[in-house]
Amino acid sequence: MFDASVYTDRRNRLRNEVKSGIILLPGNPEAAYNYPANTYHFRQDSNFLYFFGLAHPDLAGVIDIDNNKDYIFGNDVDLDDIIWMGPQPLMADRAAKAGVTNTAPYKDLFDFVQEAKSKGRKVHFVPPYRGETYMLLEELTGIPFKDVKQNASLELIRGIIKLRSIKDKYEIAEIEKAVGIAYEMHTTAMRMAMPGRVEREISGRMEGISLALGNPVSFPIILSIHGETLHNHYHGNTLVEGRMMVADAGAETEMHYASDITRTMPVGGKFNQRQKDIYEIVLEANMKSIEATKPGIPNRDLHMLAARVIVDGLKNIGLMKGNTEDAVREGAHAMFFPHGLGHMMGLDVHDLEGLGENYVGYDEEIKRSTQFGTAFLRLGKRHQPGYVFTIEPGIYFIPALIDQWRSENKFMDFINYEKVERFKDFGGIRIEDDILVTDTGYRVLGKPIPKTVAEVEAVMSDPL
Ligand code: GLY
Ligand code: MN
Ligand code: MN
Repeated sequence: MFDASVYTDRRNRLRNEVKSGIILLPGNPEAAYNYPANTYHFRQDSNFLYFFGLAHPDLAGVIDIDNNKDYIFGNDVDLDDIIWMGPQPLMADRAAKAGVTNTAPYKDLFDFVQEAKSKGRKVHFVPPYRGETYMLLEELTGIPFKDVKQNASLELIRGIIKLRSIKDKYEIAEIEKAVGIAYEMHTTAMRMAMPGRVEREISGRMEGISLALGNPVSFPIILSIHGETLHNHYHGNTLVEGRMMVADAGAETEMHYASDITRTMPVGGKFNQRQKDIYEIVLEANMKSIEATKPGIPNRDLHMLAARVIVDGLKNIGLMKGNTEDAVREGAHAMFFPHGLGHMMGLDVHDLEGLGENYVGYDEEIKRSTQFGTAFLRLGKRHQPGYVFTIEPGIYFIPALIDQWRSENKFMDFINYEKVERFKDFGGIRIEDDILVTDTGYRVLGKPIPKTVAEVEAVMSDPL
């Protein structure tokens, strides 16, 4: 945990944002995997972690704004628990680590919230994402679970987003640690990406590195020689020469901060000319949008910049044609780049997304596009110093999408379908880094992970 004062300060700043009432932040319970006593790896709720720091199940935090008090509700362990789990600190000692002096048994939360409600005080909560929390909120507030989400507090959502979006130096250090673990994961993948290997041998090794150096991975690993499927979690293919392997994977540190890195490598260790041609375009889109990062620039503009670089590059090798600006404005690039440039990152790999993607990524000034491709951009608004986000352009040859657009004669002025046909066996390429917005520009976080053709080939020349 960070120092107790960090959590006290965060709660006080949240009070100033929300102004009145009580803020209810339920921690997560254990979640059953295939029967009640066999649970998933426990992961605390990120809002609870941010404001109360404790990574144990069955806790709830309350910030009583009107009376300037903070509470943690949770039970001390009994002898049975100690027999199975070993000695545990008392709740009061745990809470003290988060700067909280008021603790009470979990069941007291119900009377506490009831009393606040009976006095007409507002009970602020954020949209839940687990069934157990929906049920808890229904029980606590009396709001039927179907209506719970739409009764979430907008003041609280906006307040949390404002605070958590700006990372402090301790958080940035944690994220850099997470990228450091990702360095080990990705360079290992490069060294293992040899013909004859099965994908899961590599994804399993990567997952083990995250576990050995921190926590389980920050999201299920995407690793495939079919990188044209954007979120490919099937790891049963055997690697064959001539294919690119996309590895999109990040670690979570002991303090629960994420990294999210993608590298794409040629199976066998040497790029052929066609692979190099496409790779260099994606790399340029990645680097140009990183270099353009600075406070005040809308992330939507970085996305559009990456799209223009991709169109220019594809024109150079004859896959696209026509005026670049027009092609991007009309959305023709999205056949090759059908997703957004990136998203916020922090305690959640898509940071804060559970509070509502449009609240996190858009605002009064910058609204989400409805155009295929650009509509999937999770973060459009202007950057501020302290934002941490991903830059992850890609080029993909998705046979079903190519066939569909071609059958509709879509964007015939911009896409050279004859030539694209010959790339239907290519797969995909994505290159992703984690970026901090500084006062004057940007910093790519963590130990640099090889990404130029020469750097990737150099790592792969020493196979594992
Ligand atoms: N979690 C996959 C990605 O956003 O890169
Ligand atoms: Mn990723
Ligand atoms: Mn990402």
